[in-house]
Amino acid sequence: MAHLEISDLITAVEPRTGRRLPVRRAEVIQQLLASGDGRAARIVSRLPVDRDDVLDPQAVDTLLISVHTELQRLSEELRIGERLVHVLDPLFTAIRSTTPGTGPYRLVDVGCGLGYLVRRLAATHALGPDVELVGVDLDAALVGEADRLARAEGLGCRFVHGNAFDLPEAATVYVSTGVLHHFRGPALAEFFRAQAASPALAFCHFDIAATGLAPIGAWVFHHARMRHPLGRHDGVVSARRAHSDATLLRAAAAPGIRPLLYEPRGSVNPFCTTLRPVIGVRPHLEAPLRRALGRSARRLVGPELLTEATA
Ligand SMILES: C[S@@+](CC[C@H](N)C(=O)[O-])C[C@H]1O[C@@H](n2cnc3c(N)ncnc32)[C@H](O)[C@@H]1O
Repeated sequence: MAHLEISDLITAVEPRTGRRLPVRRAEVIQQLLASGDGRAARIVSRLPVDRDDVLDPQAVDTLLISVHTELQRLSEELRIGERLVHVLDPLFTAIRSTTPGTGPYRLVDVGCGLGYLVRRLAATHALGPDVELVGVDLDAALVGEADRLARAEGLGCRFVHGNAFDLPEAATVYVSTGVLHHFRGPALAEFFRAQAASPALAFCHFDIAATGLAPIGAWVFHHARMRHPLGRHDGVVSARRAHSDATLLRAAAAPGIRPLLYEPRGSVNPFCTTLRPVIGVRPHLEAPLRRALGRSARRLVGPELLTEATA
């Protein structure tokens, strides 16, 4: 059975321009039923439509903003912000040490949603004043809300509606959270190849660790913390769709990139594993990154050290 997330199906945009496309409810229900997910089909059947059976875009946007707000609370509880800084701070130290005086640098959050991470980095000044913070999302409503929240707090970051790989200015480092499992099949390697082909020096993408416990953990967390059935449904499905460590390392091995995984499966307590990053650096950055990580560098492994037990 293919695992489909409802939020991927109820909005559609032109990938190049971000222009919104109409979505017919019956077609979404059909797709979900064909995948064997009657529960998801029932959730969608309750969403409002117009006379032509097109899902009401405003109702969909309101729902997705509310689900992502709940998701932000989960990120706070799982301390995703701190965990991102734990890796990104040494990464920017490594970049500064190898390319002195070339700042300012630019961090681009691909698929930033409500921009929690970018807003948090801006509010805490965690990466220093020479790192420009940019969040990008194809979903106009989510990124619009991210922008509104950042302005309300007067934060030094910006949000852009569109494709993160079509920005007029190059990123120094691409990051994301909870995005990788949305890319299936060849699209995953293509995602990494786009970054390798850009002038970026590194990427760091956090996604759900594919452990046997992940779907159970996701069920507990999402049922305890999320109110709308769509959020609960998609939370558990995303844990089921999580890519294994080996799949991520293989896909991230794009030309000119050294792929690394921080805290691979088997190296950490499975009860505490939630999201972990796949990191790609230009090869000359690996040694300075390890130096900047200090003792934590032992948790950073390349494909050659991924054992049967950890793969
Ligand atoms: C599940 S959401 C993750 C949101 C956010 N990172 C979080 O943790 O709450 C995935 C988002 O990625 C966006 N997305 C996927 N590919 C993208 C691309 N190439 N450029 C910009 N946004 C993209 C989608 O529009 C969607 O909103």
